[in-house]
Amino acid sequence: MDVQLTEEQRQVRELCRQFADAELRPNARKWDLEHQFPAAAVKKLAEMGLLGVAIPAELGGAGMDNVSYALAMEEISRGCAGTGVILSVNNSLYCDPVHKFGTDEQKQEFLVPFARGERLGAYALTEPMSGSDAAEMRTLAVKKGNEYVLNGTKNFITNGPQADVVIVFAMTDRSKGHRGISAFLVPTSVKGFSRGKPDDKVGIRASGSCTLFFEDMVLPERFRLGGEGEGFKVAMQTLDGGRIGIAGQALGIAQAAYEEAIAYARERKAFGQPITQFQAIQFMLADMATEIDAARLLLWRAADMKDRGVRHSAESAMAKLYASEMCERVTSKAIQVHGGYGYVKEYDVERHWRDSRITQIYEGTSEIQRLVIAASVLKG
Ligand code: CAA
Repeated sequence: MDVQLTEEQRQVRELCRQFADAELRPNARKWDLEHQFPAAAVKKLAEMGLLGVAIPAELGGAGMDNVSYALAMEEISRGCAGTGVILSVNNSLYCDPVHKFGTDEQKQEFLVPFARGERLGAYALTEPMSGSDAAEMRTLAVKKGNEYVLNGTKNFITNGPQADVVIVFAMTDRSKGHRGISAFLVPTSVKGFSRGKPDDKVGIRASGSCTLFFEDMVLPERFRLGGEGEGFKVAMQTLDGGRIGIAGQALGIAQAAYEEAIAYARERKAFGQPITQFQAIQFMLADMATEIDAARLLLWRAADMKDRGVRHSAESAMAKLYASEMCERVTSKAIQVHGGYGYVKEYDVERHWRDSRITQIYEGTSEIQRLVIAASVLKG
């Protein structure tokens, strides 16, 4: 098995790394403190093709593969985890399902400008009373002639405050359970749409999320994404890809914390020598390096399987589960290496630790990833 990157993949990684060092890292603390959406940086990332990494060039994307996407997610999130998830949602949760399930007409209207990064997409599955149990949704789309009337509420929607179009999952036939769910492309300009105020989050504060309200919104049938009743499969298959993005985000956060821990440990002296001389510190750095590499290999495998068109539900879940839990351990160790300085906002490691926490929650909690993995293990 070859785990070497291609020349193109190496170039993408290098380009993203340089961008993160020049434009994201220097600003990430300010965006976090001010809860500020990094609009100018997102515009530049769009010009680099990073809002539609694995979408074909003729549909507005960069035409690269999913391994490149995973590399981009790691590097961008290493610079700013909030910016990372803005990209991840637009790439994996919005562009990918429109590419996979959309008609040619839908792709022109709802994919091309989003893959180019001229417009921003979001994905709305979660509701106030249904998170992990996604099929329990209350949002309803009632068919009337050639139209649907949409009513409901979705919450914690990443990119919600900025999105131009949201993929909304709604019940079109409650009697059929998960087989009665359909997906819709919902432009936020349609009458009946409104948003709550942005959520005040613990971490990833450069990215906005909020509650979305749909009140008697009239949607033409052509806005339905996929067949009627196929929405749950659209949602689940999309999350298989989304979990690659979040694993990449977690990896980038951990990598940033690890690099900062090494830099600090080289400078800081105790008992007359740099603390890198102490095995207590060396062992922490060794564990961090090993866990980061393990996560990276799981992530590359899942992305490679997606590129090969092989079902990768369990492998994406493994990558996300391991990378997100590893991320909390690594960022916490990075604080430990920094001692008291790790606990104040003068250094970035406290932000990395706060940013790490959500990666174990969104796009399926760690417990949901374990369910997905267990289902695959027990099937085989
Ligand atoms: N690909 C294709 N089909 C799939 C699938 C997949 N990955 N997973 C399930 N399905 C199909 C099943 O084959 C089954 O098909 P049939 O109707 O033919 O039988 C159907 O979907 C139902 O499957 P399950 O019985 O396994 O469904 P379930 O109700 O037990 O739920 C679950 C399964 C894994 C728990 C699922 O509900 C789940 O993933 N929940 C977590 C939801 C989640 O991740 N939410 C995050 C919100 S998005 C977000 O966070 C965005 C953000 O802002 C960043």
